[in-house]
Amino acid sequence: MKGLKEKVVVVTGAARGIGRATVVAFAAQGSVVVATDVLDDELAALVDEVKRNGGRVEGVHQDVTDAAAWPRLLADVVARHGGVDVLVNNAGIAIIGTIEEQTLDEWRKTAAVNVESVFLGTQAAIAVMKARGGAIVNVASVAGNVGEPRLAAYNASKGAVKLLTINAALHCASHGYPIRVNSVHPGYTDTPLVANAIGSMPEDEAQAYSAEIVAHIPLGRLARPEEIADPILFLASDSASYITGSGLIVDGGYIAA
Ligand code: NAI
Repeated sequence: MKGLKEKVVVVTGAARGIGRATVVAFAAQGSVVVATDVLDDELAALVDEVKRNGGRVEGVHQDVTDAAAWPRLLADVVARHGGVDVLVNNAGIAIIGTIEEQTLDEWRKTAAVNVESVFLGTQAAIAVMKARGGAIVNVASVAGNVGEPRLAAYNASKGAVKLLTINAALHCASHGYPIRVNSVHPGYTDTPLVANAIGSMPEDEAQAYSAEIVAHIPLGRLARPEEIADPILFLASDSASYITGSGLIVDGGYIAA
């Protein structure tokens, strides 16, 4: 992919799953990666691993729902590395619950981590990118495109990420800011998020749910995190220079079927 070498990249939710794979992939392209998460030990282990493999990475503690921390984080990155070229808003949570079961507390928590963080991150990134340019990639979900009745709050949150992405892309384009804003919409991916969500169900329900998911994926398996990371890198790279306001579906054919 073009133009990722030396680029300064911030990835949220970097300690596990898709975020972790994304950090490893950017580092392999020669990017300078700032990996953020609330899980300090797992983040430190990732940083060690990437550095051992010759990558340039640093770990920063960040709760993406902390509004005041966003401008501070990006100002620090600008001070240390001269700018921010790419922001990947990846951190997210999924709490199982239908519209009848989901509590207001679960709804608010989901909205804060999955949507408010993208709002805050995108706003803070535009402020530091608008003069010299950049790319923002938001990790939405196929649940931002189609219904997922077992995940009421998550479903709504990812729909919001899809439209917020479009909104920000149009805003940047109409103001002449050289910033592209896109979303990636993964299907079911083999990460702790899925394992924990399914693990929170009663055993028999969990087994039926897992079987039903795989039965509905034309490629017949969950994605590996690396298979989501590469499309994220593509949208962040100069290879996607004419792509903005787009939602790239990466789901093994799930919503096409
Ligand atoms: P994961 O649970 O494996 O990793 C998520 C990471 O985000 C964790 O390291 C966690 O500590 C971090 N995080 C959570 N809350 C945070 C907060 N408040 N501040 C900072 N970091 C926080 O999840 P996974 O699967 O890697 O998901 C990454 C993104 O991909 C999420 O936005 C998720 O909704 C999305 N996604 C995942 C799919 C899947 O099947 N795994 C499918 C579609 C989208």
